[in-house]
Amino acid sequence: MKIVCIGAGYVGGPTMAMIARECPDITVTVVDIDEERILAWQSDELPIYEPGLKEVVDESLGRNLFFSTDVGKGIEEADIIFVSVNTPTKTFGHGSGRAADLQYLEKTARNILAHARSDKIIVEKSTVPVRTADAMNRILNSRNSDCSFEVLSNPEFLAEGSAVKDLENPDRILIGGHDTEAGRKAMQTLVDIYARWVPKERIITTNVWSSELSKLAANALLAQRVSSINSLSALCEATGADVGEVASAVGRDSRIGPRFLNASVGFGGSCFRKDILNLVYLCESYGLHELAEYWHQVVKINDYQQDRFVGSVISNMFNTISGKRIALFGFAFKADTGDTRESPAIRIAKQLAEERANVVISDPRALDNARIDLGDLGDRVTYEEDPYRAAEEAHALAIMTEWSCYKELDYQRIFDSMLKPAFAFDGRRILDHQKLYEMGFNVYSIGKAPLTHLDA
Ligand code: UDX
Ligand code: ADP
Repeated sequence: MKIVCIGAGYVGGPTMAMIARECPDITVTVVDIDEERILAWQSDELPIYEPGLKEVVDESLGRNLFFSTDVGKGIEEADIIFVSVNTPTKTFGHGSGRAADLQYLEKTARNILAHARSDKIIVEKSTVPVRTADAMNRILNSRNSDCSFEVLSNPEFLAEGSAVKDLENPDRILIGGHDTEAGRKAMQTLVDIYARWVPKERIITTNVWSSELSKLAANALLAQRVSSINSLSALCEATGADVGEVASAVGRDSRIGPRFLNASVGFGGSCFRKDILNLVYLCESYGLHELAEYWHQVVKINDYQQDRFVGSVISNMFNTISGKRIALFGFAFKADTGDTRESPAIRIAKQLAEERANVVISDPRALDNARIDLGDLGDRVTYEEDPYRAAEEAHALAIMTEWSCYKELDYQRIFDSMLKPAFAFDGRRILDHQKLYEMGFNVYSIGKAPLTHLDA
């Protein structure tokens, strides 16, 4: 059996590497139009940073895992085609800012039609609006062809930073297909692939639309949890409650559960914002305006949380940060990834620079992406891999990403090198606030009362 995956990104690359490792008898080829990316997958420096991924790729590379830019050949040879191209939010025209931009997906469907010489199973991996499989089907069957195409939905639920673990041991595999003989057969083919390493009871089959919607729903519910705890964090700061204590107390209720209740400077990542806006657009297009407004609020609270953080930096630093050096510790949207897509640090760095602060960005893995994201800001922003140097002569440091290395720094050394009064803003609640306060820092953390020497 031959599998091709179109799109060698954060989803396609790791997923295919895992299938290749677990199914050595299946030839897996990942194709992409981006030549640089394809070369990087074959090199010692993978195009994405993901703990443990290099080892997984190395196990199969050149044996039954291949990377190529020849999309047409890949399609021609494959029995199963995974589609894992990007589906960003539209930035133009109808539905701009909310709807998914399906141009890459549609181009892929047309490409499949142009190159297919035999029957294919097409698997949607990219997150798509509900009923995209329908559009895909229509394009694929738009002209008389001897080949038949069966479109399945198989959304990927891996989270970045833990992709290998998530792929090895997924909570569930979801496969949506049509309730026809061909549909059931295609679903079974895909079930059999995953069943090589995933326990059967974790492989769920549904109709196509349920599968597509489940992906949007899962991300919306997860993001909603983060916005819910973040909204409570503002109340904690105002009242003197500690959002960590609140989260831990409410999380003990087994109906609520303890995970995904870490108040933060906001959620980022390529999925949450995009998928909620997608859901909002979907609700609106079905005339369900109250639902659209309900889900939109999750994104609004996330923006508010970031703006609130910048507001706290400005107001606590005597209402001006003009000319002040502010070191941002972390730029990735979460720890253990170099990905900065939708990272709260982007919006925050831009706002700080607008206030004419002298922003220094530090991150162990994301500086290349940060330079691209903040390219417009020119020399108003500088980049420094070493956090100690980033903090030298700074007025403030602000934690943007929960990298564990930031928990272990010598904060006395950092304090000594900073201008006084020294400020620490903890957007991830990872620092020892009491200890920092005792060193002399004025400490402002998301979700709890500040510890400051300035009121006395
Ligand atoms: C998410 C989903 O978890 C995954 O199932 C889906 O396939 C893709 O989208 P990802 O975006 O990679 O994965 O990371 P995730 O761990 O979900 O974190 C998303 C954002 O929420 C990050 O910015 C993270 O820092 C933030 N977050 C998460 C919080 O602020 N608090 C939390 O408690 C959890
Ligand atoms: P994700 O996070 O969903 O994996 P990425 O942006 O990381 O998204 O990856 C999507 C990949 O799909 C990119 O590498 C892009 O070059 C590739 N791609 C987009 N359109 C096509 C296409 N028509 N044919 C082949 N590859 C494509």
